[in-house]
Amino acid sequence: MATGWSAGVLVEDVLRVGSFAGGDAAASDITLAPARRVELLAHFSGAFDLAESQPVGHACRVAHFALGIAGVLGLTAAERRRVLSASLLHDAGVAVRTGAGHLDGGAWVAERFGLDEGVSNAIRHTHERWDGQGRPNALAGAAIPVESLIVSAAHWASDQVEGPDNPLRARTLLQRACPRDVEPYVGPEISAALSAVLRDDRTWIAMWSPKLPALVAAAGSGEGRPSLRNVEAAAAAMGEVIDAAIREPGRARRVADLAVALGEGLDLPLANRRALSLGGHLADIGQLGVPRHITEKPSILSVEEMEQMRRHPGLGGRMLESAPGLDGIGAWIEGHHERPDGRGYPAMLGGAEIALEARILAVADAYCALRADRPFRSALSRLESVALVRAGAGTQFDHTVVGVLPAALDACEPRWAREPEAVPTARDHAVAPAKVRRGA
Ligand SMILES: [Fe+2]
Ligand SMILES: [Fe+2]
Repeated sequence: MATGWSAGVLVEDVLRVGSFAGGDAAASDITLAPARRVELLAHFSGAFDLAESQPVGHACRVAHFALGIAGVLGLTAAERRRVLSASLLHDAGVAVRTGAGHLDGGAWVAERFGLDEGVSNAIRHTHERWDGQGRPNALAGAAIPVESLIVSAAHWASDQVEGPDNPLRARTLLQRACPRDVEPYVGPEISAALSAVLRDDRTWIAMWSPKLPALVAAAGSGEGRPSLRNVEAAAAAMGEVIDAAIREPGRARRVADLAVALGEGLDLPLANRRALSLGGHLADIGQLGVPRHITEKPSILSVEEMEQMRRHPGLGGRMLESAPGLDGIGAWIEGHHERPDGRGYPAMLGGAEIALEARILAVADAYCALRADRPFRSALSRLESVALVRAGAGTQFDHTVVGVLPAALDACEPRWAREPEAVPTARDHAVAPAKVRRGA
């Protein structure tokens, strides 16, 4: 069983299937691999970067500086793990609309991923300042969690690096400005540690590596063995975050559930169905990179806005293509708005060029969208939604997949009716927080 993972992996924790065919509806040859939570967080952080209007890699660069500082200060392994998680999620709250500000939003995201209170607490205090001029509690000095101060120092450094277009110039400017400029924010000890990090050539060699997510994740040891359950839990958590950012609670779970039921109806192998669940939770991760005024626009999108919206499958696919445990899923996500008649996006693929799983995700995604309230219409009934999907069979949607939709809904809808939502309701969502930039 070729898995890409060697010793220490449970056999039953890795699923792979060979070819499977049913007419032109051939299931993909997919391998599901185990992963650790921190590896997935490092990759998902690219979505939070986009939501924060930062270049992808920003959160990983913050984590890289922060881990360097933690190393110079001799922090414990548990403290380093908290620093890493808080760095990766430091502005995840910008994406979500919990109605309580982006710092509490970030803490909410950390809880979704099963991280401990220390991480949430660290995120909540990343805007405090050593000199007491910060927020939300105007804490000062050692009253601020050390993890928060380290993330703050690392964020300051990351901002300086991402400004100038020449990395060598950025390095020179940063070394000149530190520790003087950052000390009021984080105090003498952490600013001195940051200076040491900035003088270390290893810091800069890794800084612009495309493997930075893997490099920072490797520093988060102590989470136990990689597992498929970690991958599934992280995908489900990310789905909740996507829902809280751009649509109503429970959407990702319903899309995943329906995609799996459609896969069952088409007799797909177990590995493909488990992978479909991951794809359902993550299908619209790329929408975090679409400006909020477009995803929330209550009226018809302009041509330019529609073009931006149509980038989301590609953005999502690229975010996941090198994420451990999600290999192969990215291509399905990239294809979830393609159409059998070749009029979809982003690649205008047609018929069997579109992976069967992408065609399944398209039906599940469209059905669940029709059942939801939109700013310009109320939610449609099951009858109306099925009729609309059926009307698109053979053109917008795969007719074989549409054929098993009623039976899949019979399986899913009783479950959905029993499950209360665990995330804030749409009505609880306040106006989106403004883009966050530190003053330092
Ligand atoms: Fe940031
Ligand atoms: Fe989508």
